[in-house]
Amino acid sequence: MDHHRTPLFTALRKHAAGNPVQFHIPGHKKGVGMDPEFSDFIGQNALSIDLINIAPLDDLHQPKGVIEEAQKLAADAFKADYTFFSVQGTSGAIMTMIMSVCSEGDKIIVPRNIHKSVMSAIIFVGAKPIFLSPYRDKNLGIDHGVTTRSVRKALQAHPDAKAVLVINPTYYGVCANLKEIVDIVHDHNIPVLVDEAHGALLPFHDDLPISAMEAGADMAATSIHKLGGSLTQSSVLNVKAGRINPKRVQTIISMLTTTSTSYILLASLDAARRNLALNGREMAEKAIRLATYARGAINEIPGLSCFGDDILGTEYAFDHDPTKINVHVRHLGITGYDAENWLREHYNIEVEMSDLYNILCFITPGDTEETVDTLISALRHMSELNYNIKTANELIVEIPEIPQLILTPRDAFYGDTEVIPFKESADRIIAEFIYVYPPGIPILLPGEVISQENIDFIMNHVDVGLPVKGPEDRTIQNIKVIVESPAIF
Ligand SMILES: Cc1ncc(COP(=O)(O)O)c(C=O)c1O
Repeated sequence: MDHHRTPLFTALRKHAAGNPVQFHIPGHKKGVGMDPEFSDFIGQNALSIDLINIAPLDDLHQPKGVIEEAQKLAADAFKADYTFFSVQGTSGAIMTMIMSVCSEGDKIIVPRNIHKSVMSAIIFVGAKPIFLSPYRDKNLGIDHGVTTRSVRKALQAHPDAKAVLVINPTYYGVCANLKEIVDIVHDHNIPVLVDEAHGALLPFHDDLPISAMEAGADMAATSIHKLGGSLTQSSVLNVKAGRINPKRVQTIISMLTTTSTSYILLASLDAARRNLALNGREMAEKAIRLATYARGAINEIPGLSCFGDDILGTEYAFDHDPTKINVHVRHLGITGYDAENWLREHYNIEVEMSDLYNILCFITPGDTEETVDTLISALRHMSELNYNIKTANELIVEIPEIPQLILTPRDAFYGDTEVIPFKESADRIIAEFIYVYPPGIPILLPGEVISQENIDFIMNHVDVGLPVKGPEDRTIQNIKVIVESPAIF
C-alpha cells in the first residue's frame, strides 16, 4: 500500500482550503465564535480542520470513504487485518475488546494489575473476572507481567473462559512470552486481547519486543498518542480475522464513541500512521539509541540504577522495551515522589510516573541528546545531594492476598448499598474500587469481601499520606458496601 498517502488528513486540508460557508457544528466556525485568546493560541490551521462528519469527510461510525481508507492503511502498517480508530483513547479500545467477546455472566481471564478501563468494561457487560497475579519484583517494588504458567493454570481451572487479556508490554516495558501465551490460549480456541497501550513502536523495530499482532493475538488496543506521535486521546484497535467478528467490533466501538468525533484527533492518527510506516524504524532506532545511552549513564551514577536486559531470563521477563527508563532511587534515601518533585522544582523536568522507590521516564522519538543529557545531569546532581548522606529506604513490597469475589463486579456496583465506616467494614462486600499506589494494583474491587488485612494495609497507606484512590469518599473514612439483611429469628 502507498503509505505516503494520508486520505483523511489530505481531505480535511482540501476541504478547509475551499473555505466553505459552514452552517454546521462546531459553532465556533473556524475560530470566529470562540474566545479570541484561545483561538489565537491554537491557531487557524487547527481550527480550520476542527470539522464533523459531513459527507466529503466520511463518518467514523460507518466509514466508507476517507476514514475507511485511512483505517485500511493503518491496518497494513500495524500488521492487522482491521484497524479501528479510537478517539476515546486506549481506554475506549480496551472496553470495545472486552465487550466484543464477553456477554453477561461470561468469564474473562485478566491480570490483577489491569487498567481501570478493563474493570469498567467488566462491570458494563456483567462479566466475571478470573484474576492472574502479576509477578511482583521484590528488588524494585514494581509488578511485571503474568507468567505463561499462570495462564495455563487459569485455563485449566476455567476452561469455559471466553477470553484472556494480557498487558504487553507493562508500563515498565517488561514483556512475558506473548507468542507462547497466544499459542496456549488458542489451543483452547478463545481469543487473546492485548492491552498494548505502551507498545505503539513495537511493530517497527526488531530490537523491540514482538507486537501483539505479530504474536498472533486477536485484538490489541494501542495508544498511538503515547509513543507513536498522534495527539492525546487518539488510539487504534487492531484486529486479526478469525476468532473475532469485525462487524461486531464496529458496532461496539460505535456504541462507546461520541457522535461528535474529533477530526483533529482522527487526522493525527492518519498522519502518525504515515510517519510510522515510512520512518518508524528510524524513529524507534533513535529512541532506543538515546535510551541505551541514558541507561548506561544513569547506571554510573552512585545510588541510582536502571534495569535493562539484565532483567531477562525469567518466565515473567521474556523481553524488555529499552525505551522505558525506570530509575530506582531508593538507595539515595529518598522516595520516587521526592525525586519527581525535586526534578520538577530544580530542573523543570516532568517524569512519566513515580512511586515509593522509582521514577519512570519514557524516551521517545521526540527526545534529543539535549533532553537526555538534561535528565542525566539532573540525576547526577540529585545523587550528589543525597548519596551517602541519607540512609537507603527499606524496600517493603507486600500486598494482601487477592480477596474472594462473591458477587460479579456489576451486581455489586449496581446493587443495594449502604455507607459504613471503612475501619468497621471487615467481612462486608465492597461496592467500590480501592487502588493503592504503589504499585497501582486494585486492592479491592466491587463484589469482593473486605478482610481485616485489607483494611490494615489500606489504612497504613492513608496514615503515611500515600495515594489511595477509588472510593467516593476520598478521605477513605467511609466506604460503600452491599446491604446485608440480617436473619430474622
Ligand atoms: C497499561 C495501560 N492500559 C491502558 C491505558 C489507557 O490508555 P489511554 O490513556 O489511551 O486511554 C493506560 C494509560 O495510561 C495504561 O497505562
